[in-house]
Amino acid sequence: MGITESESHHGRPGMSFPADFIIGSATASYQVEGAVNEGGRGPSIWDTFSHTPGRTWNGDTGDVADDHFHRWESDLDIMADMGLQAYRFSIAWPRLQSTGRGPVNAEGVRFYSKLIDGLLARGIRPIATLYHWDLPQELEDAGGWPVRDTALRFAEYAARTVEQLGDRVHIWTTLNEPWCSAYLGYGSGAHAPGRTSGADALAAVHHLNLAHGLAVPEIRHAATNSPDVSVTLNFHVPRGVHDTSPEAIRRVDALANRAFTSPILRGRYDEDLLADTVGVTDWGFVHDEDLAAIHQPIDVLGVNYYSTVTVRMWDGVSPREQNDGHKMVGGSPWPGGDSIEFLAQDGPFTDMGWNIAPDGLEDLLVHLHEEFPDQPLMITENGAAFPDDLVVIGSEKRVVDSERVDYLQRHFAAAERAISRGVDLRGYLVWSLLDNFEWGYGYAKRFGIVYVDFDTQQRVLKDSARWLRQLLADRREAT
Ligand code: NOJ
Repeated sequence: MGITESESHHGRPGMSFPADFIIGSATASYQVEGAVNEGGRGPSIWDTFSHTPGRTWNGDTGDVADDHFHRWESDLDIMADMGLQAYRFSIAWPRLQSTGRGPVNAEGVRFYSKLIDGLLARGIRPIATLYHWDLPQELEDAGGWPVRDTALRFAEYAARTVEQLGDRVHIWTTLNEPWCSAYLGYGSGAHAPGRTSGADALAAVHHLNLAHGLAVPEIRHAATNSPDVSVTLNFHVPRGVHDTSPEAIRRVDALANRAFTSPILRGRYDEDLLADTVGVTDWGFVHDEDLAAIHQPIDVLGVNYYSTVTVRMWDGVSPREQNDGHKMVGGSPWPGGDSIEFLAQDGPFTDMGWNIAPDGLEDLLVHLHEEFPDQPLMITENGAAFPDDLVVIGSEKRVVDSERVDYLQRHFAAAERAISRGVDLRGYLVWSLLDNFEWGYGYAKRFGIVYVDFDTQQRVLKDSARWLRQLLADRREAT
């Protein structure tokens, strides 16, 4: 499907962004690094989970992944060749503290230090996420995110890490998608550590929020270059088709979105969230001082967006509609969300079965701007999985991923429309730089704009990467 008139009133997508708008790409440690037993790295919950039979597609693990731990330098050259302005990566907590406690591991620091220097030498801004899901296994053994101490350990890890690397990073992000860590990790069990307790999932929500709040002042204190501090959330954009949809939309918004935005940006848990979860937990793990600690000013709010969901309430009697599979594999991960029915949606879909809905991105950005008018935003992830094939055209290796180019064009255009409607949007990072370990889906789903042959570790720029390179070149020329 091509870009329509109404979707882009700016002409070529990507060309009307403000001059200081940052365009780049993103990855995460466990998804690309490999080298899980090297450099003093300790085991994380994803090592344990992926090595447990039946947890990931085909039994895939991140043991080797993209071997980025050894190939980081040539990967940086690929980024430079594309003209990326920023690279969002994550720091593996168990590389810095193998057990999640104690002094930092110098070898781990060295790896990220070289990476950061390499980025800066190529004129690419480093955007570092401190937690993209690889919790040190020892901390999980001590209770994991449902336990308060994990939040304290995270703040300590953040302080120690930023003391080492905090002179050169442009943006520090505390957490990536705490929704997934809490609800998929402890609710549905689709993600590591694979536990299934509604009460634990909600305790994890709170301790992740607390971890963020405690880490922010540590980062500001330890950094010497006044970086921006942020958190990245994955928002649910619920749509309705039925007279019970408004109630379902409210619940999804409460459980998935406001469970994070309200404490972080307003200093409270909303009454309806507390009411919706009665019988699951009494939120007794929230201490008096916690909400003030969580409510820290942040410089930018990271927004990850892929698609929308369509919901209505289930009457508890009639058969459920076919589930669309979107983030619901294994049943609703939400405590108190059992009554929400996720409906099959109209296509087109990506290879994840997620519907392609650029207007959802525009609506989300405008909505966030209306809710939090003074809060700058950045798209820290947007992209799509498609079943890519490597082909040889003439003497050239190519991946003709027209669907991904189209997806990106339409979402760039949606971001431009949001800006023209007044949204303070600072940048756009495409997920992902490289095909990589897509969590429970292993290597079956390819999100990269750069193709990775997992047998040879060869990288090939897909047409989407060439498209992005051209867009960045055109922008440079235009200024
Ligand atoms: C969100 C996560 O942050 C990232 O790790 C994942 O690969 C993408 N979405 C795609 O599912």
